[in-house]
Amino acid sequence: MEMTRILSCLCICLFLIGVGSVKESQPNIVFIVADDLGWNDVGFHNPDMLTPNIDKLASGGVILNQSYVEPLCTPSRHAFMTGIYPYKSGMQHMVIYPEQPYCSPLNLTFLPQKLKKLGYDTHMIGKWHLGMCKWECTPTYRGFDTFYGYYQAQEDYYNKTVLGGLDFRDGKEVVRDDKTYSPITYAKRADWLISQHNKSRPMFLYLPFQSVHEPIQVPKKYEDLYPNIKTDGRRKYSGMVSALDEAIGNVTDSLKRNGMFDNTFIIFTADNGGWPTYYGNNYPLRGGKTTVYEGGTRASAFIYGAGLTKAGYTYNGLIHAVDWNPTLVAVAGGQPDEDIDGINLWEEIRSGSASKRTEFVYHIDEIFTPFEGHEAIRVGDYKLIQGYPGPYPGWYKPDEVTGDQGVEKTDYRHASYLRFYRSANASIELGAELFNLKDDPYEHNNLARDQPELVKKMEGILQEYKKHLVPAMHPPEDKKGNPKNFGGVWTPGWC
Ligand SMILES: *[C@@H]1O[C@H](CO)[C@@H](O)[C@H](O)[C@H]1NC(C)=O
Ligand SMILES: *[C@@H]1O[C@H](CO)[C@@H](O)[C@H](O)[C@H]1NC(C)=O
Ligand SMILES: *[C@@H]1O[C@H](CO)[C@@H](O)[C@H](O)[C@H]1NC(C)=O
Ligand SMILES: *[C@@H]1O[C@H](CO)[C@@H](O)[C@H](O)[C@H]1NC(C)=O
Ligand SMILES: *[C@@H]1O[C@H](CO)[C@@H](O)[C@H](O)[C@H]1NC(C)=O
Ligand SMILES: *[C@@H]1O[C@H](CO)[C@@H](O)[C@H](O)[C@H]1NC(C)=O
Repeated sequence: MEMTRILSCLCICLFLIGVGSVKESQPNIVFIVADDLGWNDVGFHNPDMLTPNIDKLASGGVILNQSYVEPLCTPSRHAFMTGIYPYKSGMQHMVIYPEQPYCSPLNLTFLPQKLKKLGYDTHMIGKWHLGMCKWECTPTYRGFDTFYGYYQAQEDYYNKTVLGGLDFRDGKEVVRDDKTYSPITYAKRADWLISQHNKSRPMFLYLPFQSVHEPIQVPKKYEDLYPNIKTDGRRKYSGMVSALDEAIGNVTDSLKRNGMFDNTFIIFTADNGGWPTYYGNNYPLRGGKTTVYEGGTRASAFIYGAGLTKAGYTYNGLIHAVDWNPTLVAVAGGQPDEDIDGINLWEEIRSGSASKRTEFVYHIDEIFTPFEGHEAIRVGDYKLIQGYPGPYPGWYKPDEVTGDQGVEKTDYRHASYLRFYRSANASIELGAELFNLKDDPYEHNNLARDQPELVKKMEGILQEYKKHLVPAMHPPEDKKGNPKNFGGVWTPGWC
């Protein structure tokens, strides 16, 4: 009698544990992207930055020390969503300009589509920048149940307009009256989604913040956190980072209040390096946004939470932006695609074992402009750069920033490119650059002259990658897309 009771109790207990682990096998996933955030712009790399919420998650999770992204917004976001290198999808050249009639190819399956099939509710808050000339290109047609944010590269943080058009939507509906500083708006939306969420289902929240892309705008109270910063732009930029940090703190608080935090896996990554012209800082890495140097491509990043079997350390294995798609499918308990460029690194990053990734393409772009670095690959400890590496060749310290770093401040569509071209031509004459990133992570010593055989071998590998190049889509801008044609609102339906 007694024995039967103990046994049945045991059975119920095991059953409950079983149910619990089924649920835990599908954690909530929160994928946070910070726009144009530099390597040296987070507290866990630079104690002068005040990012207590980010630092707490990073130190309690896993700091990713060699997590790479593309040097520009659109290509990185394409890689996050598809797991495919931009140069294989025609998405490699620059970013999508507001009136350009194209988007990330419609025959590719996006990450939220895959997670939806696995039972997730899928939400997006923030910046899209993967094309909007027709509805089929936009988030709610590409796997997101809900979307709250903007389509273009950038806008005013308060009035949500860019180039004379309002760019802010809730699903397909225009949001007209929000004048709140965007990280506050987005954190509030996240809190609302989390509180509404049906807790018996897993949630995927893609949260690409507007922060800290230019324009440089921040409420004074955040700027005032940095009285010791001399230059106005850097002080405001640093305040923007702290506002972002507060928003992330609010989102994690909301997850806790709603009982979801313990079963949530968080990834945090920049989309590219900091933009030196707009006060982003990557020191001691070389270069910045738009360059294929490390400062443009090695992201401030960490993971935190559910599923990690080892935490509280720095992971030095290689990860590339394309890897998040298959890795997050694995986190969700699904079968990652094998015909994509991304590698499922879930077992490796959750346990701290050696990364399966040993080489990757930083960027390949066959159309030359002096604004963007062109070709680079990584093979083991070595990196080969071929052709022009991009417009920021140096090592820039924070708060020595003048706002131009010797490179003209420019709207990249209409600039006089003269100085760019001069430095571009000079570096083309230099030929290849070869770095051993293990010994020289900051790219001071070009080994190309000393190791011509290795250069040749790496060039061969690069040529193999280039066989898969799909010519860049980069159509001329089309005035049909102008918001004047749509009552002053950026609106799909013109391609
Ligand atoms: C998508 O379409 C392009 C252009 O038609 C084609 O080259 C590519 O193979 C297609 N990709 C997939 C995954 O179907
Ligand atoms: C939004 O703010 C920008 C300044 O960032 C200003 O130029 C623009 O006129 C404002 N637009 C509206 C509709 O208030
Ligand atoms: C964070 O939440 C507090 C309390 O609700 C709010 O006052 C603050 O504006 C929020 N900050 C951000 C950046 O979301
Ligand atoms: C919550 O989700 C579960 C599982 O999909 C479903 O059975 C249930 O009806 C949902 N509850 C509500 C209130 O929608
Ligand atoms: C750079 O090189 C191109 C092609 O060789 C040439 O047309 C152009 O004039 C050069 N630009 C400068 C600024 O030297
Ligand atoms: C992170 O990478 C840098 C540069 O490659 C290296 O010097 C440093 O030791 C790494 N940090 C840790 C904690 O492994």
